[in-house]
Amino acid sequence: MAVRPIVRAGESVLAKVAAAVPDPTAEDVARLVADMIDTFESVGAAGLAAPQLGVSLRVVTYLVPRHRVTGRPGDDPIGVTVLVNPEIEPVGDGRYVDWDGCLSLPGMRGRTSRWERIRIVASDLDGNRTERVVSGAHARIVQHECDHLDGVLYIAHLTEPGSLGYIDELVRSGRMPPWPSVNVKEYLRGQSALLARLRRAGIDMGV
Ligand code: NI
Repeated sequence: MAVRPIVRAGESVLAKVAAAVPDPTAEDVARLVADMIDTFESVGAAGLAAPQLGVSLRVVTYLVPRHRVTGRPGDDPIGVTVLVNPEIEPVGDGRYVDWDGCLSLPGMRGRTSRWERIRIVASDLDGNRTERVVSGAHARIVQHECDHLDGVLYIAHLTEPGSLGYIDELVRSGRMPPWPSVNVKEYLRGQSALLARLRRAGIDMGV
């Protein structure tokens, strides 16, 4: 499919509540997801929400990279995952602080407070609605992406404004460890249900 331009903060599509997807099994949803994966793969990121491609629909794609997991139970590396019409809620009241970044605020990072553990209910591209409970980096990434569906950027969750900075300056000053880019193809291999669904829509992700 195609790498598409990523909408940057300031565009109105990133500030509004996205619409529910009427039919998660529709071919145009599969094509949108393929473009989202191609796009975040092109920049080695861990996820993208549909509004970041200028599409105001409740669709999120993400993975959990090995180097981001926290070691909490329920926080494991995860291959490329699609959430259509996701609903999330905290499980317990634990929160934790870590670095956050967004392709719509390129080159920057900041420290945010997020729920430590959440329940996710979402549909996949076959229309199956499933529930899972995740924690740590997995919970953090999903909260970040789902925020985009409600017009919220991570800067709304900064623990202190002074933590926001440019990646190179944060790393150079020793405030943030280096932030490796992700080989998304590696996290796409093995996602056989997703790859088969995309293939049925005539899309070959090249893995
Ligand atoms: Ni983002």
